[in-house]
Formats: sequence, structure tokens, C-alpha cells
Amino acid sequence: MRKEIEEYAKRLKLSWIRENYQEVEEKDPQKYLLSLFEKEVQNREERKINLLLIQAQLPKTGEQPFQWQHIQIPQGIDREAVLKGNFIQERENLILYGGVGTGKTYLATLISLNAIHTYGSKVRFYTVAALVNKLIDANQNGTLTKIMKQIEKLDLLVLDELGYIPLNKEGAELLFQVISMCYENKSIIITTSLQFGQWNHVFGDPILTEAVIDRLIHHSHLFLFTGDSFRYKESLQNR
Ligand SMILES: Nc1ncnc2c1ncn2[C@@H]1O[C@H](COP(=O)(O)OP(=O)(O)OP(=O)(O)O)[C@@H](O)[C@H]1O
Ligand SMILES: [Mg+2]
Repeated sequence: MRKEIEEYAKRLKLSWIRENYQEVEEKDPQKYLLSLFEKEVQNREERKINLLLIQAQLPKTGEQPFQWQHIQIPQGIDREAVLKGNFIQERENLILYGGVGTGKTYLATLISLNAIHTYGSKVRFYTVAALVNKLIDANQNGTLTKIMKQIEKLDLLVLDELGYIPLNKEGAELLFQVISMCYENKSIIITTSLQFGQWNHVFGDPILTEAVIDRLIHHSHLFLFTGDSFRYKESLQNR
């Protein structure tokens, strides 16, 4: 009988039940069945979230709660709602701007984690340099469409460190294609230490730069990180 149960569970793709049904201690048949279903669904949710976390490729984070003291956010914006990733539902963007070590990547990562856990959002974190390199490679070996399709399926694309490395013409144009595709379709979080006025230096072309900024700032919130570097503060404390 055991073999048959396992076989049926397999055919029905009930993997938790298949492996664990014998461990559920419940005499009442209805309660037993209910318990099996609950555990199967719960396990399925957990596996889904784990997969989303793997696919997101987020950087490692610390444990400390996020400190908002030195971050200026637009009026009427609720921090907790942003942290939960509510803006993703509205397909809005976030631009996190400020000096090094002030928490831009940390905030982008925490939002990504929360969005995955709360809404099951599809997230992918890239540094701009890594994404652009990947796009250039794909463009050269004919797999650009595949990558674009992967990005198209996301709810949130994080582009970390815009402006840390200048882009060549091909890279800038490919990044523009990605931003253009995401426009009004999904959310982007961009972290940068460059003012808009300096984005020209990254994209290399004033018309392209204007088109990028225009798309990004439409439906977006700008957060200003004004504090000192946490890395610097931490290393001072450690000494
Ligand atoms: N607001 C914050 N609250 C709590 N911890 C923070 C905060 N900001 C930064 N940290 C700590 O400092 C570390 C460095 O911050 P983070 O990597 O986010 O900086 P950044 O703004 O992305 O800098 P860079 O521009 O150099 O990439 C974080 O991993 C975190 O441990
Ligand atoms: Mg960073």
C-alpha cells in the first residue's frame, strides 16, 4: 500500500505528502487529510520563496535594523510601506542617491527580501557593471532576446551602483533598452552616487541620458542618503 500511496502522491506532485504522510499523527480522517493538505501547501510556499531568493541573487546583508535618520524621503511616503515593497504593486521606481557606505545597497536588498517574502515578487539584483557585461556578451553571442525575456518576467529589477563605472556605447544602449522595457511595466531600484546632471558621463550621450532619466523619474521616488559611511563608522568602532 505504501508504494501505491507514494506513487499516487508522485503523480499528483504532492512531494511533501509523499515523503512525510506517515509522520502525521491524527486519528480523525478529516483532520488527517486537512493536516496533509496544509503541510503540502506550506512546504510548496517555502520552496517557492527559496527559489525566488536564489534567483534574486541578493548580496549578503547584516542583521541590524535599517536606520532612517540620515535619509531624506519625499513627503507623504511611508517608510514601512516602502520597506515592505508596496511600490512594486504600483510599478513605481526608487532612486537611492547618496555617498558611499550610506546604506543604498542595504536598503535595496532589504526591500527585495521583504517583497519576496511578503508578495512572492520576482526580483533580480544586478550591479550595473555585471548586467551590462552580461548584456554585451549576450548581444555578441545572439542570446540577448533570452536575457530580455528573463528580465521581462521580473517584478523588480535592482540596478546597483550606477555611475561607478563608465559604459561604452554598446553597453549604454543595451542598458537603455532594459530600462525602456521596464518602464511602466515593472519596478526598478537604482542606487547611485551621481546626481542626474552627471549621468551624462555614464551614458556618454546627452540624448540617451535624457531618455533614461525621463523614463526613470516618471513614477519614481528619490531617496537622498545624506549620512556618513556606515563602513567607516563600523571600522572606527572596531578599533
Ligand atoms: N541605514 C542603515 N542602517 C543600518 N545599517 C546600515 C545602514 N546603511 C548602511 N548600513 C551598514 O553599512 C553597510 C554598507 O552599506 P551599503 O553597502 O548599503 O552602502 P552603499 O550606500 O551601498 O555604499 P556604496 O555606494 O559604496 O555601494 C551595510 O552592509 C550595513 O551593514
Ligand atoms: Mg552599494
